[in-house]
Amino acid sequence: MTRRNRSGQEGFHARQQTFSFLGGQESPPLVSPPREPEMPAGADAPGRADESPASPGERSWAAARLTEGFEADRSRAATPEVWPLDGGILAEGDAFLQELEAAADLEELGRVARECRRCPLREGCRGVVFGEGDPRAFMMFVGEGPGQTEDEMGRPFVGRAGQLLDRWIALLGLKRHQVYIANVVKCRPPGNRTPLTEEMRACWPILRHQLRLIRPRILVCLGSPALQALVHPGARITRLRGNWLERGDIRIMGTFHPAAVLRDPTKERAVHEDLRRLRAEYLRIAPRGGG
Ligand code: URA
Repeated sequence: MTRRNRSGQEGFHARQQTFSFLGGQESPPLVSPPREPEMPAGADAPGRADESPASPGERSWAAARLTEGFEADRSRAATPEVWPLDGGILAEGDAFLQELEAAADLEELGRVARECRRCPLREGCRGVVFGEGDPRAFMMFVGEGPGQTEDEMGRPFVGRAGQLLDRWIALLGLKRHQVYIANVVKCRPPGNRTPLTEEMRACWPILRHQLRLIRPRILVCLGSPALQALVHPGARITRLRGNWLERGDIRIMGTFHPAAVLRDPTKERAVHEDLRRLRAEYLRIAPRGGG
């Protein structure tokens, strides 16, 4: 099994709170966030609006937001890690959550997760699509939720979008079994619609514990819902894709969802740019020959 090269860790810890400014109302306010630059009109539009291209104004807003966050947070002491969907989740007194949190490895977590009935999605699908890959992967991909093929096969990203994702992983010089692949929600939303915030929140403890157990160093968010779960509730892929973001010692990058690229192949060029940056970072921090 591949051992992790933690040599870059100190640098990452020094920037541990980089993204507290993106914590938003739904994250526990461990530190008071610096004043945020104003969003351009329509910047917080939810859902499928991420298909529209970002205006130059929106891009510079995102850049300013990133820069301001980096500047403002450098002086902060490290605090425990928080995530956008953490708010309102208390394991105390909730036997199912306690069981999830107690899972010592992915196998056990998968077994508990498959019993989940915390939201109505489970009623409308065949089963829980937990995720798959190297349990010690350096790089982890997070999509939004299983589609029909994934629901039928019980595996993430195995339909048309998954075949494209496989090609992207190959462009990174990796094999599918060397990374970990999961989704924000583990049950197929009806008609493949975008998962609702309540559904993402209900499912979040599973992904959160997957992250704790796998401890990836690079997290790739495929589309807006993944960015919203892992970076900020108002994040949109058109504005943040291709930027390096950080949480704890995890480097996070958003890129277009493969399904969005299948619908609009002109987006693939941007994805290839993002893959180049991902590859460079992977080579910088991953152990030689490791997954
Ligand atoms: N789309 C996703 O977001 N996840 C999958 O597993 C398949 C398609």
